Amino acid sequence: MAAGDELLPAGENLGEAFRSEEYWNSFFVKRGDKPFEWYSSWPFLRPLLRAALGAAEGAPQPYTTRLLVVGCGNSDLSAQLYDDGFENVTNVDFSKVCIADMLRKNLRLRPRMKWLVMDATAMKFDAASFDAVLDKGALDALMGEEGEEGERQGAALLAECARCAAGGVVAVVSLLQDHVLRLLLRTFRAGWALSIEQVPASPDMFTSPLQPFLVLARAAASAAATHPPVQLRTLPGVGVNAAQARDVRRLVESENAARGGGPVSSPPPPPPPPRPPAASPPLTGKMVEVFPPHNACAEVLAVGI
Ligand SMILES: C[S@@+](CC[C@H](N)C(=O)[O-])C[C@H]1O[C@@H](n2cnc3c(N)ncnc32)[C@H](O)[C@@H]1O
Repeated sequence: MAAGDELLPAGENLGEAFRSEEYWNSFFVKRGDKPFEWYSSWPFLRPLLRAALGAAEGAPQPYTTRLLVVGCGNSDLSAQLYDDGFENVTNVDFSKVCIADMLRKNLRLRPRMKWLVMDATAMKFDAASFDAVLDKGALDALMGEEGEEGERQGAALLAECARCAAGGVVAVVSLLQDHVLRLLLRTFRAGWALSIEQVPASPDMFTSPLQPFLVLARAAASAAATHPPVQLRTLPGVGVNAAQARDVRRLVESENAARGGGPVSSPPPPPPPPRPPAASPPLTGKMVEVFPPHNACAEVLAVGI
């Protein structure tokens, strides 16, 4: 058995398990205090997220951005955002175990950060309560496999993100399986400007054929700008995710054709990602902690062992 197998659901109903509160509660009990970062890590996400959330270098801190993180899990990302100046962060997850752990870990160190047990597909916030909503991995968990129930819950999650961030920004970090990307493209068609960019691979994901992408939906400034072409940037790389990059491009091209024939345009390249600090804790090295698509958990987890 590969390290970490015990954390993943056994049997056929993988998709169902990843949508169940019971599964996640037991996942966080088994995982204990150790953060589980589903994809990527702070040095790679930081430049993209800071740009997405509108934090200019040198701007006075703490930033005023009201940020909601959905399906926060026990990832370090919210704490890293907080320590980087985004103190107005609200986190939700439907796992009581996870939220209790995160409250215990962060209450004293990061007193302004809020942690709430809440179903992210039916949130109790007023519309436009946040300037930005961030998801890393929750949409992929709800839509791990293609199917009606995943589609329904994924659509509910995105509708809630869009409602809570009305007039603002929705940022989703996802492995962009085809059915997930199709839902994102549909949801953020009217009234949103959409850009998609590949996140540079962190060491835990060098060999993964599915790399994370940041999908950024910004509320359009005017009703006239309802269907701007989707911007896409994939990274030249060693080709480990060549098939994924080709699929993403194909779907974006057909979306842009439907939006009126706009080309797939690319935003200017970002600054090169910083090297991870030497002291940053390596992910176990035994386990490639990626969200396993298509029932391939054992296979994916075995990579790198
Ligand atoms: C793949 S993990 C991602 C965790 C974390 N965001 C990260 O990047 O490491 C999915 C998370 O979404 C949470 N989740 C799944 N469905 C949810 C729902 N309907 N409402 C709230 N949280 C949910 C799970 O409890 C889990 O913490």
